[in-house]
This record gives sequence, C-alpha cells and structure tokens, in this order.
Amino acid sequence: MSALPSSHVDAGRLQRRFEALSAIGATAAGGVDRQALSAADAQAQALLIGWGSARGFTAAHDAAGNLFLRRTGTHPLEPVVMSGSHLDSQPTGGRYDGAYGVLAALEALEAMEDAQLACSRSIELVAWMNEEGSRFAPGMMGSAVLAGVRTLAQTLCVADVRGVTVESALRALKQTLPALADRPFSAPIHAYVEAHIEQGPVLERLGIPLGVVTAIQGKHTFRVDVHGEAAHAGTAPRSQRRDALLAATAMVQALSAALEDDRDEVKFTVGRFTVTPNAPSVVPRHVSFSIDLRHPDTELLRALSARVAPICEAMRGSCEVSVERLVAADAVAFDAGVRERIHAAATHLDVQILDMPSLAGHDAGIVSRIAPAGMIFIPCREGITHHEEESAQMPHMVDGTRVLADVLYTLAR
Ligand code: GLV
Ligand code: MN
Ligand code: MN
Repeated sequence: MSALPSSHVDAGRLQRRFEALSAIGATAAGGVDRQALSAADAQAQALLIGWGSARGFTAAHDAAGNLFLRRTGTHPLEPVVMSGSHLDSQPTGGRYDGAYGVLAALEALEAMEDAQLACSRSIELVAWMNEEGSRFAPGMMGSAVLAGVRTLAQTLCVADVRGVTVESALRALKQTLPALADRPFSAPIHAYVEAHIEQGPVLERLGIPLGVVTAIQGKHTFRVDVHGEAAHAGTAPRSQRRDALLAATAMVQALSAALEDDRDEVKFTVGRFTVTPNAPSVVPRHVSFSIDLRHPDTELLRALSARVAPICEAMRGSCEVSVERLVAADAVAFDAGVRERIHAAATHLDVQILDMPSLAGHDAGIVSRIAPAGMIFIPCREGITHHEEESAQMPHMVDGTRVLADVLYTLAR
C-alpha cells in the first residue's frame, strides 16, 4: 500500500460528485446560480454534509455560516490542517469556481480514509460562506469573520437587494439542515491549502497542468450612492433637474479615464448599477453602483483607491454623492513553506507545476493573515470564468486533487 493518499484519489468518484453538485442551481446555459445562503446553497451544503457523514467526518457550522467537515486526527487538540473553497456562485456562475476546491478537499480526505492513513492532526474541509459577494457585499465574508478582518455583527446585518439580511438568510438555511456542532472561530489553524481553477489563460496556453500561487493582487471595493430628485420626464426643465443617472454615468466615465492604465494592469469594474425608480418617464432620483478596483502593487492600489471619492465628488453636479469603501484588501504573498510543499508534492508525482500569481481573489488570501496558506491552480478553458461556459478538464482536476491530498497529508501526518 502506498504511503501517500494520492494513489487512492478516485477520478470516477470526483466526477460523479462534480456532476451531482453541478446539478444544484444549474442554469439552462450550463452554469450555476447558487448565490450565498440561497435555497440552492443550502441544498449544496446538505449534499456535502451527507457525503462527509457517510465517511464519518464531523460536520460543523461556525456563527458566520462557514461549513466544516472534520476528519479527526489522533491528536485532536493540535491546530488543524484546513482545505476547501466555496459552494456559492455568481448569478451566472460557472460550475468549477469554488466547487472544485471543495470537492478536491473532500476527495483528498476520502483518499486518506481509503488508504487507511491516520493523521496526527485533524483535517478540516471548509466551504466558506459567501465568497462571491454577489448577493451580499462584500465577498469573502465567512473567511473575513473567521480571520478577524470583519466582525460577526458587521456581517450579519448586511442585506441583499430585497432587504433580506445575512442573519435571517443564515437562520433559514440552517433550518433546512440537520443540527450541526458549533465550531469556534478561535480554533487554531496549522496551515490552509485551497485548490481552484486558474480563472485565467496562462496554464492552458503553456500546456502546464498545475500552478502554485505565489500571490494574489490587491482589491478595493466601493458602494457609491448618488442622490438626485425625481421629476417628470416631459415637464421638468433641464436647468432644474437633479438627475442621479447622468451624474452617476459621468462619475463612471471619469473614474475609468482616470484609473485605467495602458498596460492593462489596473482592473476597474462597475458590475452593479441600480437606478431608482427605474421608470421610463421619471428623472432618476437615486443610483447606487459598485466599484471593484484591483492591482498587484499595494501602494499603487491604495493611491488609485484614494482618488475614487474625490472624482465622484467632482462629477456630482447638482446631486449628492456618498462613497463607502467596503473592502481594502492588500496584495497577498503566500507562505514560502506551503508553496515549497506544493512544489515537492507535484514533483514527487511527476506533474509539472508553474509559479504564478492570482488575479482573482480567494479566501486563501484572507486566511493567510492568520495561518500559513497556499493555493493550487488547475487550467481552465480560455480563462473563461464568472461565466456559465467556464470549463476545466477532469485529468487536471485529478492532478490537482492528488497533489492536494499529499500536501494535506504531509502537513497533518
Ligand atoms: C472572486 O470571485 C473574485 O471576484 O476575485
Ligand atoms: Mn472562487
Ligand atoms: Mn468567483
């Protein structure tokens, strides 16, 4: 019998689980809509809990709605090794973003069971609450609470566009699930490793099956509220209008002109734009829009971020504007020791692996504030992601899972 779990990774089981999970929240165009704390998210959690309990893994929630499955070690008081990702998706999300890392962690735990490899440390699979931040902003909510970046109180009161709070959505979700143990936020973590699709084109173009993530670019997000005044579209003279939509679009144009660079390194996105009352014959009285601003250089990102509010203020015309920064996440460099372990495991399995940064955000970046963390990337088709056509190949999913299994085992053994 092999002394490492990778040889027990079961591609057929991983494939069947992937198909079962992809069916939850499936969209007609082949993606998923499984937004945080929705009925589909609850169904996905129930499926995961069922798979885990069939193997004797203990399920628990923490107060932020992060879900854990623990394979208990022989020294259960030692800090745990943790691995996972997220089950929630964008409203028109792909099947792999997040789901792959959760299923890879489950398969790694099962491979250890099948290989009868006891570990000294417990290993916890985690499915983080609301990584995507589409229903409730900002994203990476669950990991941020666990890592002490945001408080639980700040998180529970966040509401979606219908006014449903995280607190009430979480209560409703828990009511659909069996009663689970409570996991304290303070339980120490020895190391965290997350597997994920690359969400970029690099590995596919180079024909390299795996990446070890060196760093994650920084991300600042904002909510901008522009307040004008409703008026009749036919009768109100232009000189008297306070049109929130015209002010907001001027702000967006000015921001994109001022922040974007020729090298295409600054990433500036307005992904949500809400007009009130949104009626064809009423001058808009309120616009709310989101800003997602990213750059790999923390100092530059901070400098760009500091320009957002003054630019909005300069373009407000006769309207009022308020700018709230929701997230100010610096660029993250991953732990050299965890990266080295990922390299060593890939090399031992004779799988080529590339050092690369991540342009997308991940819970691993948040966890790296409180524990050594790292990530394994697999290629995805043409870098298509946050899109229903997102796609990855099973042999790469298996390679990533085999490396993950050996890394988790060597960390926990
Ligand atoms: C994660 O989904 C991100 O937006 O980077
Ligand atoms: Mn993701
Ligand atoms: Mn995502």
